Amino acid sequence: MIKLKNVKTTYEGEKTPVIKDINLEVKRGEFLTVIGPNGAGKTTLLETINGLLESRGEVIVFGKDIRKFGTEIRKNIGYVPQDFSCDSLTPFLVKDVVMMGRFGKIGVLRSPSKKDREIIRKTLSFLGISELEKKPIGKLSGGQLQKVMIARALAKEPEILLLDEPFSNLDLNSRSDISGKISFLNKKEMTVIMVVHDISSIPERCKRIVLINNGKIIKDDGREKVLGG
Ligand SMILES: Nc1ncnc2c1ncn2[C@@H]1O[C@H](COP(=O)(O)OP(=O)(O)O)[C@@H](O)[C@H]1O
Ligand SMILES: [Mg+2]
Repeated sequence: MIKLKNVKTTYEGEKTPVIKDINLEVKRGEFLTVIGPNGAGKTTLLETINGLLESRGEVIVFGKDIRKFGTEIRKNIGYVPQDFSCDSLTPFLVKDVVMMGRFGKIGVLRSPSKKDREIIRKTLSFLGISELEKKPIGKLSGGQLQKVMIARALAKEPEILLLDEPFSNLDLNSRSDISGKISFLNKKEMTVIMVVHDISSIPERCKRIVLINNGKIIKDDGREKVLGG
């Protein structure tokens, strides 16, 4: 489903690549967590998989090169970025922001159908934030905003879900709640790649962990093997 071969990503204007020699294969329905210190290249790796950065080597998603077919492929990838600034979204209500998740599927010229609105309603309810539906995005707490960003990604009904530190703004209760929900989606065959900062927030269901440091994969193995030392 996802295949990276000898991948190297260098930011524009920089000389040295931030990630290098990356080889990674992820099968349909897998749940993989990426860990590593600050600056290791975790976010860069996710954005490379999502085709948001220029990279070298092969980045194949659903059998196609994401750098050539990004717009098409991303219709099936839900992405929750690490840093979402709310500025650009300020005049919108929560339900509008979550609806943005469906734009790729709806197309720019069509307006949302009853079915689209139903999906938004179900997604908000699934994440336990139905009551936020009509709130302006600018008036939410960090944790609420994080859940809305997850809702926006899920509203796509994606086959692949990429999450970059999705728990960072959540309290302990919300963490275990959202972690359970991500596990549930994975049980329903959604392929999940998640970056976390704190290893205690890796859900039980995730059995494969990739450790990266200095832009390279140091370990890619079973949970116990990576976390055990
Ligand atoms: N837009 C950018 N331009 C140049 N360098 C960047 C950019 N974004 C990140 N970096 C650098 O790439 C490295 C890896 O960053 P990142 O992928 O965000 O790490 P992580 O998510 O593991 O903390 C860091 O050294 C960071 O400074
Ligand atoms: Mg990061």
